Amino acid sequence: MAKVPGQIGNDFCPQSLFLYGNWKEDGTPNFGLFCWFSYAHVSDGEEEGLGVMACIGEEKLTKDLIRKSGVFSANLVSERLLPLADYYGTTSGRETSDKMKLLPTVEQGRVLDVPTIAESPVSFELKVLQEHHLAEGSDLFVCKICNVMIEEGLRDQSIPFAERLLLAAPVITPGEQEYVSLRGGSLGKWGEPRKKLQEG
Ligand SMILES: Cc1cc2nc3c(=O)[nH]c(=O)nc-3n(C[C@H](O)[C@H](O)[C@H](O)COP(=O)(O)O)c2cc1C
Repeated sequence: MAKVPGQIGNDFCPQSLFLYGNWKEDGTPNFGLFCWFSYAHVSDGEEEGLGVMACIGEEKLTKDLIRKSGVFSANLVSERLLPLADYYGTTSGRETSDKMKLLPTVEQGRVLDVPTIAESPVSFELKVLQEHHLAEGSDLFVCKICNVMIEEGLRDQSIPFAERLLLAAPVITPGEQEYVSLRGGSLGKWGEPRKKLQEG
């Protein structure tokens, strides 16, 4: 099939979704939804290892809290978590004082002082090594992975990896503001899955 010039963008390039978690000053958690997230080999001056790159656009509560503490969690969004994740991604923490009226099961990070989500199949605990200002409101955080917690069953190598991946059921967002399941079905447009929640 012939290729034609496209609009500059990343449609058809799947991105996994993560909920970034921080403690607020009053000791309660805040979560926001993010997909501009990838991996890098990093060094903190003492040791080298796997790290992440997290791009955060515009000023927002998550960015305020990451700058304040220098740490955050990144919790992989599964299909089960999607309605809550969609709510966290379409509700501003700065502008909505009761944003966290809806909560997952929140746990304390094992290595860093960050809130993590029990229902998420994979939770990273991240320490910021560098912040790069890229453009107006756009900042890149390069982080060291200090710990990862993973659902026990996902480590069972007697089950083929592809099957375990479907068990984890990560949600991808490959373009046109749509959530898609790894099995291929649409899970709705951004802003739709939250309608399943009882927001009260
Ligand atoms: C599907 C989806 C993906 C998102 N990905 C990002 C992202 O990668 N970077 C970003 O800065 N904001 C992203 N957002 C927007 C944030 O989730 C949104 O600004 C949210 O209010 C952040 O939470 P906070 O206000 O509590 O900090 C995304 C939103 C949605 C719905």
